[in-house]
Amino acid sequence: MKKQRLSSTYKKLIDASAKAKKNSYSPYSRFRVGAALLTSTGEIILGCNVENSSYGLTNCAERTVLFKAISDGKRKFKAIALSTDADEFIPPCGACRQVIMELAGDIDIIMTNKKGNVQTKKTSELLPMAFKPEMLQKD
Ligand code: THU
Repeated sequence: MKKQRLSSTYKKLIDASAKAKKNSYSPYSRFRVGAALLTSTGEIILGCNVENSSYGLTNCAERTVLFKAISDGKRKFKAIALSTDADEFIPPCGACRQVIMELAGDIDIIMTNKKGNVQTKKTSELLPMAFKPEMLQKD
């Protein structure tokens, strides 16, 4: 795979996602995920996965960080970086792709692996033909 040139902002964002991973509450899966969200003003917001003994109530890191940001009044985002302890690149799950598309739009999704390699995809690449709010019937 081609080595990607990363801006210093994206490097900072990736480091922030690794830091966010440390707060992961994942006693059931032991799969730690950290997310760092870059706002249009250059602010970085951190989030992690938060599990529950009623497994289905688990919140992924991506949704945690987006909900944190939205509830703090942030509305425009440039990129999200994700860190896990896995050897492979871990992309956002299907549910999180839908939420990223609605709340952040077609941003850069920066995936990392344990070795520190990086792969970046746009939301639209990971979720082609997305369902969008404009498609809802309005009268
Ligand atoms: N997880 C995330 O946080 N993000 C994803 O996109 C994939 C899965 C979390 C949910 C759960 O806590 C653990 O990883 C194992 O599925």
